[in-house]
Amino acid sequence: MPPFVFVGGGLLLLMKEVILLRKVFVTALVLVLAVASCSFADGVKIGSCIYRFNDAFMLRFRNAMTAESEKLGAEISMSDGQDDQNIQNGQIEEFLSSDVNVLIVNPVDRMSSQGIIDKVKAANIPVVFINREPTPEMLATYDKAYYVGAKAEESGTEAGNLIADYFKSHPEADKNHDGKLQFVLLRGQNGHQDMILRSKYSVEAIRNAGIEPVEVAGAIANWDKVQAMNIMNAFIMSIGPENIEAVIANNDEMALGAIEALKANDYNKGDPAMYIPVVGVDANASALDAMTRGEMLGTVLNDADGQGSAAVKLAVMLAEGKDVSGEVTDGKYIWVPYQKVTRGESK
Ligand code: GAL
Ligand code: CA
Repeated sequence: MPPFVFVGGGLLLLMKEVILLRKVFVTALVLVLAVASCSFADGVKIGSCIYRFNDAFMLRFRNAMTAESEKLGAEISMSDGQDDQNIQNGQIEEFLSSDVNVLIVNPVDRMSSQGIIDKVKAANIPVVFINREPTPEMLATYDKAYYVGAKAEESGTEAGNLIADYFKSHPEADKNHDGKLQFVLLRGQNGHQDMILRSKYSVEAIRNAGIEPVEVAGAIANWDKVQAMNIMNAFIMSIGPENIEAVIANNDEMALGAIEALKANDYNKGDPAMYIPVVGVDANASALDAMTRGEMLGTVLNDADGQGSAAVKLAVMLAEGKDVSGEVTDGKYIWVPYQKVTRGESK
C-alpha cells in the first residue's frame, strides 16, 4: 500500500478508494499509538514529596526524576515540604485523595516514615522512599514500600580516603608534626543516615589508612552552606586556622560554606602555605568549580541522575502492577553507587 495518495498527480484514485485508504491508515495509526501508550507509562500519575526544594543536591535529583518521567511518558507532580514534617504530611494526604497511582517520598524526618507508610498502606498505593532511608522494620510493615538511595558508608569511606591520601602525599599538611590529623567535622541534619554514616566512615577510613584522626571541633550545619560558613568562622576564631589540618563536610554545600570562611581568613586562595584541605560529598557543579579553582580538595559523586531515574522507573512499574522482584535487592532496595571525584576530573 502506498504511504501517500496523489490526487490529480501521476496517480489517480477514485474517491471511494481514497476514503478506504484513509480508514486503513487511521486504524493503523490508532494501533501504533495504543502499543506506544502501553510501553510508555501513559496515564501513570506520580506524586512526589520532596523534603525541601531549596537543596542543591535535591534539585539535581528532582531534575532527574522529571527527565525520566518525561522519557517514560508518566506524569509527575512534586511538592515542597519546606523542611517541615507537618507540611509534608498534609501534602501526602492531598496526593492520596487525588488520582495519583504511586508516591515517591523524600521524608523530612526519616524517623517519621512509619506514619507515612501507614497512610499510604491504608490507601493501597505503592511508595518509593528516596534519599532519607526508613528503617528496615518500617519498610517491612508494607509490601508495597521500597527505598532507592546510596550506601552512605561508601561516601564516608571515599571522603576519608581523599583526606588520608592527601595527608600521606603532603607531609607539610601535618602542621604540628605530631603524626596525627587534627580535623573539623561539619555534619548534616541530625538523624539522617548520611550524616551518621558519612561521619563515622570518613573518620574510620583515615584511621584504617594508618593516621590517627583527632576531631578538634565539630557541629551540625544541616547540609546548609550559610550555617556551615558561620560555624567554620567561629571555629577559626576559637581554635586558630593553624591548628586545623583538614575539614570533612558531610556534603558539598557545607564544604563550600567552610571554604568561604577560610577564604575570608586568607586561606585556600592559592598560597600553598595557607591551605587547608576540604572534602565534601555530592559532586555538585559549584563544588567541581571550587575544585578547579584549587579551593577544595575533592568530593564524592552522589549520583542524582542514577537515583532519580531508578526511583521513577520503579514507581512506574509498581503503578502498572508489574513484578519488581528482579529490580530490587533484599525485596526492598535499589542501591546506586558513589564515585570518588578528585581535582581536575569533571562529572
Ligand atoms: C544527601 C546529600 C545532601 C542533602 C541531603 C538531603 O544525600 O548529600 O547534600 O541533599 O541528602 O537529604
Ligand atoms: Ca597533626
